[in-house]
Amino acid sequence: MKFVRKKENTERYVDTIFSVVNAAKADPLAINATAGCLYDEEGKLLTFKCVYDAEKTIQPAKRAAYASSPSGNADYIDTISKFVLDGRVKNHHRAIATPGGTGAIATAVTSCLDEGDTILYPQIAWGNYKVIAAEHNLRSLTYDVYDLGDLFEKIDSIDGKVFLIINSPCQNPLGQAYSYEEWKKIIGKLDSLDKEVVLLCDIAYIDYADGDPKAYFPLFDSIGDHILVLLCASCSKAFSYYGQRLGALIAVNNDEEFLDHYINLCSRLARATWSNLNNAAMINIAQVLSEHRKEYDEELLAAKKMLKERTDLFIGQAKECALELYTSCGGFFVTIAYDDNKKRDEDHQKLIDHHIYTIKVNKGIRVGLCSVPLKTVDGLAYKIKELI
Ligand SMILES: Cc1ncc(COP(=O)(O)O)c(C=O)c1O
Repeated sequence: MKFVRKKENTERYVDTIFSVVNAAKADPLAINATAGCLYDEEGKLLTFKCVYDAEKTIQPAKRAAYASSPSGNADYIDTISKFVLDGRVKNHHRAIATPGGTGAIATAVTSCLDEGDTILYPQIAWGNYKVIAAEHNLRSLTYDVYDLGDLFEKIDSIDGKVFLIINSPCQNPLGQAYSYEEWKKIIGKLDSLDKEVVLLCDIAYIDYADGDPKAYFPLFDSIGDHILVLLCASCSKAFSYYGQRLGALIAVNNDEEFLDHYINLCSRLARATWSNLNNAAMINIAQVLSEHRKEYDEELLAAKKMLKERTDLFIGQAKECALELYTSCGGFFVTIAYDDNKKRDEDHQKLIDHHIYTIKVNKGIRVGLCSVPLKTVDGLAYKIKELI
């Protein structure tokens, strides 16, 4: 194509999600299970009161100002790191602010991988990993999240650096999560390798997980020197702050000096791409975490409870009517299982014809319970089962 760089991907970029989302919005009878955002029981995008009350206190001149550094405002980096790590990681760590979790993942990929390198991510996954991989001319390799044997085989098949993405807990779209014991095995496997390993933990949805989803973080204290852990966090989900584009990349490694160089390198990358982040958003999240933590925790707990009621109900009713779902530990989505993508396509269209809007994923149909009120979730599994 004229004007663009030689290796530019010139295939037409079609965002399949947004076309279904728009169709759902145009249908007054829609059951809209397409969204990747949490909606309240009245069908409105859920917002945390403490987040938006605090935001009102930020003066226009501060909103208008550039942030203090390409790597982010120091108080934001400090508070978000403490919030994410929760005192669980004693090993050396350093962070940079990023535009959402996506910015953190893109920074990790750009900073660690060369063209032609391999990137390993789940077979059924958030579609953007594939887009990021293609954009960087990487070789995509995928693994079955339910089978550690398959993951380890894929790791062993990689020549050179291992760059592994794990999106646990509340995996998008499956709701899958690794247990502490599974994490121990994964870290043990990575430790046993005699090559460089980058472990990217995409923890975008961790704040909505049940139990103690950060229990595995202390495992990062005893990793080998050949492992770099990159935690990619998203304020989109944690603070219902999707459009403000804020997140963080937190790097953990045994070598403090390396981390200093690494974060410096990421800062230069940031300067050369987005230059600077949303100043008001950083000020706000820092103040919510330092001054309104109790209110935030209470609101988050209520949001989690609301989501769990929906997933428990849907999963329970799916079981009753034998609607086959991938095993889920909760989160924003559940996914109907398919062996065959052709049959999935037919069923997806059938559901649309009956005003049920969902998202197609590899070998599955994703039902975004995050955007469906409980009263609509009630009976939805039966309806779907009947139609397909
Ligand atoms: C698995 C996963 N990771 C990361 C993200 C990043 O979100 P954001 O860039 O809005 O923080 C998303 C968003 O949908 C996601 O589903």
